[in-house]
Order: sequence, then C-alpha cells, then structure tokens
Amino acid sequence: MATELFLVLLSGSFLLTLLTFLSFRSAGGRKTGKPNYNLPPGDLGGWPLIGDTIPFMQPHSSGSLGDFLDRRVAAHGQIFRMNFLGKKTVVSSDPEFNRFVLQGEGRLFECSYPTSIAEIMGRWSMLAINGDIHREMRSIAVGFMSGVKLRSFFLADVEQQAVDILGGWRDGGSFSAQEEAKKFAFNLMVKHLMSMEAGRPDTEQLRKEYITFMKGMASMPVNLPGTHYRKALQSRSTILKIMGKKLDERVKSIQEGMQGLEEDDLLASVAKNTSLTREQILDLILSMLFAGHETSSAAISLAIFFLQASPPAFQQLKEEHSKIARRKMDMGEIKLNWDDYKQMEFTHCVINETLRLGNVVKFLHRKTIRDVQYKGYDIPCGWEVIPILSAAHLDPSIYDDPQQFNPWRWQGIVNSISMMNKNIMCFSGGPRLCPGAELAKLEMAVFLHYLIRSYTWELAEHDYPVSFPFLGFPKGLPIKIFSI
Ligand code: HEM
Repeated sequence: MATELFLVLLSGSFLLTLLTFLSFRSAGGRKTGKPNYNLPPGDLGGWPLIGDTIPFMQPHSSGSLGDFLDRRVAAHGQIFRMNFLGKKTVVSSDPEFNRFVLQGEGRLFECSYPTSIAEIMGRWSMLAINGDIHREMRSIAVGFMSGVKLRSFFLADVEQQAVDILGGWRDGGSFSAQEEAKKFAFNLMVKHLMSMEAGRPDTEQLRKEYITFMKGMASMPVNLPGTHYRKALQSRSTILKIMGKKLDERVKSIQEGMQGLEEDDLLASVAKNTSLTREQILDLILSMLFAGHETSSAAISLAIFFLQASPPAFQQLKEEHSKIARRKMDMGEIKLNWDDYKQMEFTHCVINETLRLGNVVKFLHRKTIRDVQYKGYDIPCGWEVIPILSAAHLDPSIYDDPQQFNPWRWQGIVNSISMMNKNIMCFSGGPRLCPGAELAKLEMAVFLHYLIRSYTWELAEHDYPVSFPFLGFPKGLPIKIFSI
C-alpha cells in the first residue's frame, strides 16, 4: 500500500514536472498573441499547469457532452478557450466550425495528438504524422479497404469471423459482449494485415500484448515502473517484434520470388510496393490495427446495447435479416453476397443511429498552422483545437429528441447516411476522413445478420457506454443470451 502511494505521489510529481515543461515550452516564455487578438471567450486557468484537463476528461455517458462541456458551453458559447494539458486550446461544439476545421486540414490546421499518444503508437503512426508521408500511408490505407477489396476479400472473412465468434456462444450463457466484439474485430484485422489466424499461439500472444498496450493508451502518460503507461511501452516493443518477424518472412518470400498465401495481406503489399522504411511499415500496421479494431468493436457493442433497449428496432431488424436468409435458402445459397448487404436497409438505419448516439470517437486533436479567423474570433497560430464531433449528433436543432435511439429517423435518407451527410461526423471529415468507414459498416451489418437470427439477449448487469476518453462499457457490457 505504502509503495503504491509512493508511486502515485512520484507519478504525480513527474507529471507536474512534465506539464511544467510542456506549458513553458508551449508558452515559449513569450506572448504568443498580438495584443489585439479577439480570442474566443473562456480562460486558460484551472489547475496549476494542467489547467482543466481533468474535468475535461471526466468519464460520462457517450450520449451526452458531459458536465464540463455543458457548463462551459452555457457560460461561453459553443467555441471557447481553455488550458488542456498545459496548452492554449480552443474547444468547439459548433458543428459548422468543426467542419471548417476538418476541411481546413493541411491549409489552416493539422493533426496534433498529444506527445504521449505518438510515443506509444509510434512516431510514424498515421495519427501522429502530417504532410507527404501521411498522404502516402493514407493512400495505402484507402487501397487496402477499397470497395473492390471489401467485396472480394473482406466480406467472406467478416462473415466467417462472425460465424466463428457467435458459434461459440451457448444458450443461457453470460459474458462480456464488448470482449467478444473485440475478439471479432481483432481477428479480422490481424488476418488482413498480417495473415495471422484466430486462436493460433502467436495471434493469442499478440492479442494479450495488445490488451496491455491499450490500457496504457487510455492512462496518464507516466513512464514509471508499474504504471500502465510503462507496461504499454513494453508491450509495444513485443508487438513490434511479432510484427517484425512477419515482415521479415514477407521480405524473404519476395526476395526468393515465392508466392505465398500471404501475398494479399497488407504487410506483403507494403513491403512489395512502397519505399517505406521498416520502422514506418511497423508503425503503419500498428496504427491500422488500433484504428480498425477499437472503433468497430465499440460500434458493435453499442448496437448490442441499443437493440436490447429497443424491442421494436430489434423486431424490425430481425424481420429484415430473416427475409434475406429465407430468400437465400430458396435460392440454395448460404453465404452472404454484396447484393444481400445492399438490401439491409433498416440495418443501415440502425448502424447510423448507433454511430450517432454512441459517439465512438468524441473529439479529435488539431492545431492551427497559421492565424485563423472564424466568425469574428482569432485563433493564433500554434494553438490546439479540439473539435467535439459528438456535438453535432446530440444537437436538438439538428436531430429531434437526440437522446432517443430512433433508427427510423434515417429511413428514406439511408443512402445519404454516408459521410457526405454534414451532420454525421462520426468518421471525421475532410482529408482525414476515416478510410475504414465502409469496412466498419460492413462488419456491423454482417455481425448483426448472424446475431439477430440466432439469439435474443438482455443485460446481465446494468451497464452503459462511457467516453473515457475511448468509448467503453465500464463492466464490459455483460449480456445473457438465449438461442432462438
Ligand atoms: C465505427 C468504426 C470507426 C469509427 C467511428 C472511426 C472513426 C475515425 C475517425 C473519427 C478518424 C479521424 C481521426 C482524425 O482525424 O484525427 C478515423 C481515422 C482513421 N480510421 Fe477510422 N473509424 C472506424 C473504423 C475504422 C476501421 C475499421 C479502420 C480499418 C483499419 C479504420 C482506419 C482508420 C485510419 C487508418 C484512420 C487514419 C486516417 C488518416 O489519418 O488519414 N477506421 N477513424
């Protein structure tokens, strides 16, 4: 106990030292603004050095903005300034300004994740980089999840992984639905990234390391023995070793002119077709694993959560999927094809509504790369900007009764659910629009197809989705399932 207390105190003082350094560096010991800047309202106060980071990061239901934002918006309006992690920051719950920020990527703003995220994800992680190297990696990611790839490679595997995961569930059983969704999304990603098969020892080792890695991502960045952050850095190096071994195998096959089963995985394609360095390739694969696994598993968990609370939505979804299954049976087909997927209209309404109300990604990190003017406010060059994506989704002037899970609100406009709809920002927008958006929807739709035809479910314990800052269910979304 005494050791724990000592570690906490030591961590705290280390953190304060770090933040002093950061805040000194960000202030640069000089005034960053011209005296006549018309800054957004608010203040740069709060706790010494860390400002208002702690209240800003307070866990809260993902279907709300949280007390801190509610209070600040009431006091200052949707665009205000604050001290976040020792930096001068503008926070925006204004959907129009947020679109302006996302569209202005590369011209007025650029991605600016906290140093700790870059340290743990790697300096070549897609989240941490800007400019030409980002464009190159982005085009790799876009190609990896293109429409053709979704149809020809992903669909069958998404289906197989869903069948495998759901096939392991037993009538009357209780378990964490969040863990099952994570397993599903993890197995799918490692297969397509590195041809790693579910359940094999190296895949399981990678999964274990990845869980430790994720705990560090969501913790205070304190690199001391015993902290989650330190453990995550250690897991990062083990993960890179496992991935590095796979990369060596691909490079060897390419050099020997051998065609393997792995030739279609991302690792082989990057090793063959790009000039990225080894370090860049490994950071790219790790960031794809992170981006493609945490988010879609959270989205599936949210759908499971919202559907158990909405019997009419459950019923209509079940009818849609039973109809598809009956038609396939009449045609003597078993596996889903692209036309089946396209016919899942109500499913797409459920997916949209889940993403809107669930808010898998609540906010992003950007910074200004020149002085920016917006609606009479000045935001000086170098300031951090945090667009709150969930603000558009929860705005009663945009969505009637926004706290209500209402998939029917998307009926008739289901084809405009795409990211082109300016009021759905769950996949970001502009030059950094999520390249995995269509894959995520495919995963959700296929998983739901098999889930809803095989089981009904209820919460085994009370739980709800929380922004913390990654979306999660505090108890792991424990459900009890019943075979149909
Ligand atoms: C429901 C599921 C998903 C949600 C809500 C989501 C959300 C987002 C958001 C908000 C961003 C923008 C981050 C930023 O601009 O700072 C993003 C970027 C990204 N996402 Fe997704 N995502 C999802 C699924 C996926 C999947 C399945 C993949 C597959 C690997 C993926 C890969 C990526 C990548 C590589 C980026 C970086 C893009 C760039 O920097 O240009 N995402 N995602």
